[in-house]
Amino acid sequence: MIDYARPEQFGETDCRVVSDAGYSSVPIVLGRGKVTIDLAGLGARSGDLISLDLSRPFRPEGGPRDLGLMVFGVEAPSDHAMNYHKREVGLRELPLVADYTPSEMTIAVTDKCNLRCVTCYAHHGQEGDNNAGLEDFPPELIPKIRDAAMGAARIQIHGGAGEPLMARKFWDWFTLLEGNPGAKIEFNTNGLTFSSKNIERLLKHNVDHISVSFDAATPETYADIRGGDFARLLANMKELVRQRATSANPIRILFNMTVTKANVADAPKLVRLAHEIGVDGVELYHLNSGEAFDWSVAKNGKVFDYRDNLPENNPELIRPFIEEAIAIAAGLGLYLFVDPRFQVTLYGRANELTEKLPEYSECRAPWHWMAFEANADVKPCCMAAKPIANLKASSALEI
Ligand SMILES: C[S@@+](CC[C@H](N)C(=O)[O-])C[C@H]1O[C@@H](n2cnc3c(N)ncnc32)[C@H](O)[C@@H]1O
Repeated sequence: MIDYARPEQFGETDCRVVSDAGYSSVPIVLGRGKVTIDLAGLGARSGDLISLDLSRPFRPEGGPRDLGLMVFGVEAPSDHAMNYHKREVGLRELPLVADYTPSEMTIAVTDKCNLRCVTCYAHHGQEGDNNAGLEDFPPELIPKIRDAAMGAARIQIHGGAGEPLMARKFWDWFTLLEGNPGAKIEFNTNGLTFSSKNIERLLKHNVDHISVSFDAATPETYADIRGGDFARLLANMKELVRQRATSANPIRILFNMTVTKANVADAPKLVRLAHEIGVDGVELYHLNSGEAFDWSVAKNGKVFDYRDNLPENNPELIRPFIEEAIAIAAGLGLYLFVDPRFQVTLYGRANELTEKLPEYSECRAPWHWMAFEANADVKPCCMAAKPIANLKASSALEI
């Protein structure tokens, strides 16, 4: 609740109003203890304004029903709500310098990896466990992200081109982000280093969800695509579910598969496996395509040809397995995410991805997103071709 005696804490925020029409969020302007609610923002029939004087306890003459509103309470705006509201204004006005911090952050904590997946643009060509020349995010620069991260609603601690748990300072990131307990922190991992001790550490931190990359549901397919010890991965996941059951941390656990011609037969099996192990769902990603994605690589005595494996080049083969996975998940009541790109490549359906390709000038990423590479380059999103700065020269907040 707002402390009426301290009107200086008022600022701009959102107001949540419950009406017959449902639940709405409208921008309100707080100034010197006065709240103005623009009813047009609520979708009300008239665009009247209602002002509530909050410099003293609210007692409207004649009672709140005369306003057609019941005020149950007014909450002080949280830093998140304030930042989110400013972001909404920023996305409309596109200022040269933003007065808010990013609501989404992607941080590549390392480029090192302990696997050599055939689908991975960075590591498919490497042999063995050679990570020479690949770097961790510079530890001395980690604190330079802190202030900018405090208003973020979603933070992806990605491996960049690597495995996040291979970063020497992996756990330091959670300590750094403790100042933002409202953030939803997530990461993808291959799960192979989820020892009992690492799981214990993970469950002590504020992590909303993790997505564990399987790309398979059988040891053979796993050896063809990822390599690594499938039995260990299964044991690690069982241990994670076991420890989660007795922990106060309800972390959401998902298994993912990047679908190719070579592994799609395992997609329905992965749904069953996820259910058996007791995790929360499965994600079926679409293999990226584009000029840069074109290679052939040998693994497990087989050759993986990238182009030959794309869903768009195998719609007839891939479609029944995806449909089976969907049916199994529905039957089990298990969450299943199917990448919307499959609508286009498997069914030829136009959707928002193909109906109109956005122009560069329509991109709003710089006004809400900030992405960090493992070499501390800063980009407006993880797809941006060029960095706009590097943390060596300035802090994320300055940038
Ligand atoms: C590159 S990995 C890095 C994180 C971590 N090492 C892992 O295995 O999840 C991040 C995600 O990208 C997916 N991925 C790998 N190659 C891909 C490709 N060519 N197209 C689309 N997604 C891909 C992986 O399956 C994984 O879920």
